[in-house]
Amino acid sequence: MTSVGRWLETCHIDRRDAEILLRESLGINRSKIITEPEALISSALETHLNDLAKSVRSGLPLAYAIGHWEFWGLTLKLNESTLIPRPDTELIVELSLARTPTSGTLLELGTGSGAIAIALSKTRPDICLTATDIVPLAVATAKENAKSHNVEIHFTQTDWFEGLNDIYDVIISNPPYVASDDPHLAALSHEPQTALVAGPEGLDDLRHIISQAPNYLRPTGQLLLEHGHDQGSAVRRLFAEAGFQNIETHRDLGDNERVTTGYIQ
Ligand SMILES: C[S@@+](CC[C@H](N)C(=O)[O-])C[C@H]1O[C@@H](n2cnc3c(N)ncnc32)[C@H](O)[C@@H]1O
Repeated sequence: MTSVGRWLETCHIDRRDAEILLRESLGINRSKIITEPEALISSALETHLNDLAKSVRSGLPLAYAIGHWEFWGLTLKLNESTLIPRPDTELIVELSLARTPTSGTLLELGTGSGAIAIALSKTRPDICLTATDIVPLAVATAKENAKSHNVEIHFTQTDWFEGLNDIYDVIISNPPYVASDDPHLAALSHEPQTALVAGPEGLDDLRHIISQAPNYLRPTGQLLLEHGHDQGSAVRRLFAEAGFQNIETHRDLGDNERVTTGYIQ
């Protein structure tokens, strides 16, 4: 048997991550970890914590170790089929909230854990939301997350626009946009590659969505796409080629070009 303080000293992972594993596994809060380091951990829980710490040391992101993560102040269940939602993605949520008319229809392509769609629905229950993903387990997880947050979203498993027949006021997506030879992929090996990689320049999915979106937008309907910080000019060019107007790229908190928007006449 060990104690909370002793386990923190010997687990050899980042202190913040270790505290999160302790809070999750023991069901205690941070102040208890700090004020009662002598509290004992049962042998069974110590084994469980050591297994989790070992996985984190070998590169498993903490979000997968604990099976959930926060986005937009909401806790979302995650698994090997769903990308960990990033704080930068809050930008596309903010822009979508500002651009969707009252009781408007919005399609989110590639919903993963459902993070964006659920954040939108929680904030604006008037929006009529459809969200898709190609990965069955991602769709099932997004459905579960929507249920636990008590929001109504129509989920469909499909390959981008395949089989969709409606037209929408707004279409949004945070699609895969990493180039297949990007060296950063090595550090993302635990996340689903279908959620990340999009051809040699990372533009394959963006190109497909931009070219097809005009067929699924009402006149004056808007397209909002998250992309890599160095893809702004390529994405603006693709928007222009597809006939979009008022094309703008918006910057995230780190001042990186991150979301491009435009509307169709
Ligand atoms: C970058 S992740 C975004 C996940 C989530 N929307 C978020 O922002 O955290 C891209 C998502 O697109 C999905 N995806 C990849 N190819 C797809 C396709 N052909 N059709 C639909 N979804 C696809 C992936 O499964 C993944 O969930």
